[in-house]
Amino acid sequence: MSKKIILPKKFWEALNITEEEMKKKSRTEIFSLLKQFGEEHTIPNISWIGVSVLHFLLPLKKPKKVLEMGCANGFSSCIIANTIEKWGGSLLTGDVSEPSLDSAKANAEICNLQNIEFRFGDILQTITVQDAPFDFIFIDAQKSWTHKFFMFAETLLSEDGIIMVDDTKKFPDKMKSFHNHIEREKEKWSWFTIPESDDAIMVFVRKKQQ
Ligand SMILES: C[S@@+](CC[C@H](N)C(=O)[O-])C[C@H]1O[C@@H](n2cnc3c(N)ncnc32)[C@H](O)[C@@H]1O
Repeated sequence: MSKKIILPKKFWEALNITEEEMKKKSRTEIFSLLKQFGEEHTIPNISWIGVSVLHFLLPLKKPKKVLEMGCANGFSSCIIANTIEKWGGSLLTGDVSEPSLDSAKANAEICNLQNIEFRFGDILQTITVQDAPFDFIFIDAQKSWTHKFFMFAETLLSEDGIIMVDDTKKFPDKMKSFHNHIEREKEKWSWFTIPESDDAIMVFVRKKQQ
């Protein structure tokens, strides 16, 4: 019988690394450990290509306010917050899973990232238009609801903001409604896809109205 592993809130405890040792590590070292831990425990963190896309887009756009939909254990949240910290940007993120959110908070804390706000619950309920506008929105939550998250993101996005969607090809059935939505809305958006990533990330900006 397979034993269910309960993932600890502080992932370094499972690696027998003390908190003191973790605090001496650079953020880059912590990100690598976190990614490795995620791969070993099938936590659905963004791929390294996804990380590269964030590292490419965020410094170009320099968003002051970023929204992430679905943080899991906070790997991508830490990558985003670490990047946007350089120009005073802040991240609002959340998750429906309390253990995931607790672990994300612990990971942000060990990285000493102070520019993240976490909200617990369905992102469609916990974020409101009062939180908007966001200059950059990263959608990476329940795949079958991606079209709903995208429609919501549209109402929260600044005029020239960017929406980035992960896993657009990985789950064809679950993402069908999203692709149908995009097809209906294609007059509104310009986008490109990064097909080399295992998950085909899509990046959207609004078309300028003539
Ligand atoms: C793919 S994982 C996120 C991975 C994370 N972005 C990363 O790369 O490290 C998707 C997460 O979205 C969360 N989720 C699913 N539906 C959600 C919703 N409606 N609101 C908030 N979080 C949601 C799940 O609990 C899960 O932890």
